[in-house]
Amino acid sequence: MNVEEVRKGIPALMLSSSLEEAQAGVEARKAAGPWPEYIIRPKGTLGRKRLQPNTGSNTRTLWLNSEVGHNREAKAEIKSLFPGVTPFSTPKPERLLRKVIEASTRPGDIVLDCYGGSGTTAAVAHKMGRRWITSELLPETVSKFTKPRLIKVIKGDDFGGITTTTERVAVGNLPSDMTALEAQDFNRMLNKAISSDDPIEIPLASELAKMVRATQKQGESPLDADQAKTLLKLLKVFAPDGAPFDVQKPVKTQLARRTRTRDETTTQWFGGGGFTHLEVGPSMFEEVEGFILLADWATHGALAKAMCAQLEVRYRPDGIFAAFRGKTRYVVIDGHVGETTILSILEQLQEGHIVEVWATQYDVVAADRLRKERPGSRLEAIPDSVLDRYRRKASKGSPFKKEMIDE
Ligand SMILES: C[S@@+](CC[C@H](N)C(=O)[O-])C[C@H]1O[C@@H](n2cnc3c(N)ncnc32)[C@H](O)[C@@H]1O
Repeated sequence: MNVEEVRKGIPALMLSSSLEEAQAGVEARKAAGPWPEYIIRPKGTLGRKRLQPNTGSNTRTLWLNSEVGHNREAKAEIKSLFPGVTPFSTPKPERLLRKVIEASTRPGDIVLDCYGGSGTTAAVAHKMGRRWITSELLPETVSKFTKPRLIKVIKGDDFGGITTTTERVAVGNLPSDMTALEAQDFNRMLNKAISSDDPIEIPLASELAKMVRATQKQGESPLDADQAKTLLKLLKVFAPDGAPFDVQKPVKTQLARRTRTRDETTTQWFGGGGFTHLEVGPSMFEEVEGFILLADWATHGALAKAMCAQLEVRYRPDGIFAAFRGKTRYVVIDGHVGETTILSILEQLQEGHIVEVWATQYDVVAADRLRKERPGSRLEAIPDSVLDRYRRKASKGSPFKKEMIDE
């Protein structure tokens, strides 16, 4: 594998064989069927897999628990946001969403989550300076989880998830080439290894005697020859048969002192921003055997009111007209519009005025006739033209279109 192909943040895997051999091994394993039924649990015990996937592709990346969190962490996050409430069965940890959003967006981009749930994606996107849109089907979920959570994020009252980052740092100077995490590990293992009552014994007296003799020989001793002789004699009194000294305590203390570390927490999010919550009404249209029909509840005036809202004109019914703006009159018809209907509308339209007729069905001939009889007037279809209008409007302000032009 080329070094360039190893992406940032993805731990490297060392292969014990050539790439070709490893690839052949993977293919052979895949052909042999589902992965083993047994898994090794975090505490080293064996567990049985509940789900046996028999399709899928080879693993391409590795995201470790330590980096992106796990289900338990996600549940704890929800519990701290909503004490006493049973969390969702499959919440995602904020750190996981951070990794996904980091990999796929830049600050200011729009993150869309169509299945809002507890709002983890929106909350993380917000804390990361992205814009976001989320939708949730169940009003109860919105009022109990999604909305209160996002309000907490904005007010700076959400102290969990990626609001803070915690890093292990050295308290003093670590030995060179030792990271804070390695020092933490070292300490853990040291404590385990030296926790028993077993002494660490060294022949202190004979080692000291060796040192005294060596410094005398080199002429570097602070003692004169007589003093050195006396000291060597007395050292023998301490350890006549080379009896060792227990240095367990000082060794442990010294090593631990030189490798002390602590957690340093930095707050990354203090609150800010805002969002708008819109409740989407039920659809006015339903599909019946392939036909799009107006829902029962939407007939009898509701259609005219809704159309006026879509056209951004005030609903002011006056005879056959539902609204007006300047010299334009609006007619909304739940049904078929042919030439006869157009002629009857024109009869009631003042000179100098034009009309927009919105109907659930119409004849093309009727539309042509209207344009000819009163230029500037239009006959449009509900809902098709309404949706077209939205698409045209949305494409004008689309950030994606802008990006395509920029690049
Ligand atoms: C597992 S949760 C999603 C978690 C969420 N993405 C997060 O970041 O925390 C799935 C949610 O999707 C909602 N849902 C299901 N169908 C939906 C739909 N058609 N439109 C909007 N939400 C829907 C469910 O009510 C549920 O709350």
